[in-house]
Amino acid sequence: MRKPFVAGNWKMNTVAQSAVALAKAVAAEAAAPAEHGVDVAVCPPFVYLQAVAAAVDGSAVAVGAQDVYFEQQGAFTGEVSVSMLKDVGCTYVLCGHSERRHVIGEADELVNKKVAAAVAGGLKPILCVGELKSERQDSQTEQVVSRHLKKGLAGLATEQLASVTIAYEPVWAIGTGLTATPQQAQQVHAFIRNLLADLYDAATAERMRILYGGSVKPDNAAELMAEPDLDGLLVGGASLKADSFVQIIRAAI
Ligand code: PGA
Repeated sequence: MRKPFVAGNWKMNTVAQSAVALAKAVAAEAAAPAEHGVDVAVCPPFVYLQAVAAAVDGSAVAVGAQDVYFEQQGAFTGEVSVSMLKDVGCTYVLCGHSERRHVIGEADELVNKKVAAAVAGGLKPILCVGELKSERQDSQTEQVVSRHLKKGLAGLATEQLASVTIAYEPVWAIGTGLTATPQQAQQVHAFIRNLLADLYDAATAERMRILYGGSVKPDNAAELMAEPDLDGLLVGGASLKADSFVQIIRAAI
């Protein structure tokens, strides 16, 4: 049985004060759902990681970073390593979020190095995959998702997948208010799980959590979570308000 997992991706939002206030509010409200077996994480901007980790310390809420660099240390101006993230209290890290792929220009090879470095260093990567609107219209969804997945996980041994989460985030649904229907999401989630079974083995595929992301809101979270291959939610905009994020966490029980 896969434990539901709800993660909030704050993106480039909040200031120090609102980040800590939001983290505290989520930590206070997440205790009950956590007792029911939901994993919860928040992913603030790098500069607030330490303050947010302190704010949720002792609670059921884990902290994730939104990105990482694959080298351990050295002359990589502006970058942040796995060990630095662990040092400030991170458990998770997003890898290959669509905004990094399509706004910043990250390629699959770089995403793969980040996933591998995270796993090797003891951080749990959340590998984001998903097609553009034009790719869906051209019936390329499975090809794109398959490429993101195969290249993103390249070189990982089966046992290393235990620390990896996959997030399916159709780019056309991110921040647009246009959510994939539960059926559309389930179709791709099942495709991902079958592909994982082909690439590794059935037991590993059964164990891996596949989150959905893209305009998740309190009023669509439960119907999405009702789909058999949806194991959790990666929430952007609706994670910036404690009450809506907490409603989404509760819907994941
Ligand atoms: P959204 O973002 O919930 O605002 O659509 C999701 C994401 O990008 O992770």
